[in-house]
Amino acid sequence: MYQICRKVLKKYIRLLGPSRILELGGGLNSTPLIRNELKKCGGFVTTLEDNPYWCNKIKRYDDEYSETILSEIVFDGIVKYSYSLKGIYDIVFIDGPDGKCIVKFKNYFSKKKHCFRSLSNGIQSIDMMTYIWPHIGPKSIVIVDCRIGSVCYYLHRYNLKYRGFGRKAISAKTVRQVKKRCKNMSTGTIRMCSVLKRS
Ligand SMILES: C[S@@+](CC[C@H](N)C(=O)[O-])C[C@H]1O[C@@H](n2cnc3c(N)ncnc32)[C@H](O)[C@@H]1O
Repeated sequence: MYQICRKVLKKYIRLLGPSRILELGGGLNSTPLIRNELKKCGGFVTTLEDNPYWCNKIKRYDDEYSETILSEIVFDGIVKYSYSLKGIYDIVFIDGPDGKCIVKFKNYFSKKKHCFRSLSNGIQSIDMMTYIWPHIGPKSIVIVDCRIGSVCYYLHRYNLKYRGFGRKAISAKTVRQVKKRCKNMSTGTIRMCSVLKRS
């Protein structure tokens, strides 16, 4: 997780005092950060992790504010975690799955339907919004660490407000372009963090 995203995640947890957070893709950076913040303001985080090694590493720190769930990545028209989400999450943090684990599905999904692969910084820029969409309300926010291909895809496909953080955050002009049709976007690893909200 990029430094800029740490700051943004902290800022929004403090600002919103969320009751429920969903984290896609756990690790030793964001997961402890979220837990520590929730210890101060209450709330509960559910972390979905597809890799048993990382799941075990994170799970041992589960407490009354957090649970880590081992959930494989499946494809049934969309790429998603096999875990059935429940209710509404105030904050969803997207930092998974890892590109490696969805390589097996790459021949099934189309660029147009599931991602903007041409702009992604890897196959991990796959659509996760369709999976979480029924579980975000009008006040919820979705924070995405980097994953510019995904963010552009979400802006194109869903009616979302965008707020970018970091030197290379997507410009307002590009957001307008992307909402219409994606073109002339830069690719590669870009240190940025996006906050998305239903509009
Ligand atoms: C981008 S990482 C998620 C990192 C996590 N959100 C964090 O900031 O701690 C995506 C996936 O890579 C795996 N992973 C987690 N931490 C990792 C690490 N330090 N090095 C390599 N892979 C990691 C996990 O399977 C995770 O779902």
